Amino acid sequence: MTPHRVAVTSELPGKAVEWLEAGCRIHLNSGPQITDEDELIAFIGAADAVLTLLANPVTDLVLAACPRLRVVGNCAVGFDNIDLDAARRRGVWVTNTPDVLTDATADLTWGLILAVTRRLGEAERFLRERRFRGWALDMLLGSAIQGRQLGVVGYGRIGRAVARRAGGFGMSVAYTDVEEHSNPDPPATFMALEQLLSTSHVVSLHAPLNKETRHLLDEPRFRLMPPGAFLVNTARGPLVDEAALVRVLEEGHLGGAGLDVYENEPEIHPGLLGREDVVLIPHLGSATVETRAAMAELAATNILAVLNGEEPPTPVVRPADH
Ligand code: GLV
Repeated sequence: MTPHRVAVTSELPGKAVEWLEAGCRIHLNSGPQITDEDELIAFIGAADAVLTLLANPVTDLVLAACPRLRVVGNCAVGFDNIDLDAARRRGVWVTNTPDVLTDATADLTWGLILAVTRRLGEAERFLRERRFRGWALDMLLGSAIQGRQLGVVGYGRIGRAVARRAGGFGMSVAYTDVEEHSNPDPPATFMALEQLLSTSHVVSLHAPLNKETRHLLDEPRFRLMPPGAFLVNTARGPLVDEAALVRVLEEGHLGGAGLDVYENEPEIHPGLLGREDVVLIPHLGSATVETRAAMAELAATNILAVLNGEEPPTPVVRPADH
């Protein structure tokens, strides 16, 4: 029997490639990320499976041009780079990598919450510019978070892990989601988005990107936030109308924003780049050595399961006949 062919769009950490190579023929991209549909089609060719990253656009065009594909194993928890309806229609499995990155992303979210409320980016720039002249009572004062409300938008795995850490910082938690959870874990107060925005000192986004959530935070909603409140986004950039965010920051309405993701990655809105009240990092939510290895290995495990005729551990789309 000829071995299955697996296209892998990037070099991978951990044992993922080793596991795939044990039973399959691998076509590995060691060059720049493939962001173009035609290039992706040419790369996948007649492969039975593809292991993708967020930069790879798995559109209907790509799926139509690669009819041998049985599974797309995305190495990410999000899957907005994949046309799920097209995959469903064409009988292709789609899998993602939940759970293994929950703690890393929640930790990074807290890093941003602390960095933006305590002005750490600005403070580090200040010091590196050799402007530190010694301790001063009024130097670079931040905003206290103790006793205040954290508003979590999207109470899934990552949102709940962020909420779980809030007790350690003395914050109460409100959450909003598509519907109220019957037994929220950890316990938190359910609110409509508008109420959550108007009562939270820090709002942290943890919703998936889809048609309903694009520009979930627009200018009218930013104006509901109390003066001096903070926005943190470690989910997806397009949840936020970035131009509107810049406008409300310029007006001094918000205290600041901590951003890991951007509306048009890797482009950053020029209105953000020069601001001292924003902390900007380059999409690092899951970026630990351990987590990235676990993600790649889970993506490989999903692919191997489908190719062996088994149920993959973390499916997003299962073909209709399963
Ligand atoms: C990263 O953004 C992911 O979805 O895993």
